Amino acid sequence: MKEIRLETKISIYPLNEVSDEEQPLVRAALKATEHSYAPYSKFHVGAAVLLADGTIVTGSNQENAAYPSGLCAERVALFHAGHQYPDIPVVALAIAAATGGKQVESISPCGACRQVLLETEQRYGRPVKVLLCGTKEVMVAESAASLLPLCFGKESLL
Ligand code: THU
Repeated sequence: MKEIRLETKISIYPLNEVSDEEQPLVRAALKATEHSYAPYSKFHVGAAVLLADGTIVTGSNQENAAYPSGLCAERVALFHAGHQYPDIPVVALAIAAATGGKQVESISPCGACRQVLLETEQRYGRPVKVLLCGTKEVMVAESAASLLPLCFGKESLL
């Protein structure tokens, strides 16, 4: 029997130590929660994608009475970026959430969103930094792949 252990590094920054380049991204993710359509869960998620040229693309969760037809904020933002700016690499994604009019502490992307993040990394051949925004701290993973060990990616289809 062999065993492997997988480690993921998460860095935790106090909000005021987030870099000047990433501060607008964090603010954009929180602002995007205001555009969420979440009448069922009342859990409003915002995501902000940073492109290599500095463009920020946002998204929010869009729910549906037929629950599985809704989509998470992260995928709304990533798919919008892929559609609107197909040739500009994605370099980072920030996520924030609010409920009852109040921001909640850091939330982490669901499995399906991690899979789409992974595809984004493979598409542009570079890591996507993931920022999980809380009220006082931001948790940072340096890549989506680090959040999805033993993943199924395009190389699995070769
Ligand atoms: N949701 C997101 O948009 N992103 C996440 O990372 C977790 C969950 C949404 C889906 C649904 O609209 C609501 O939050 C409750 O699960």
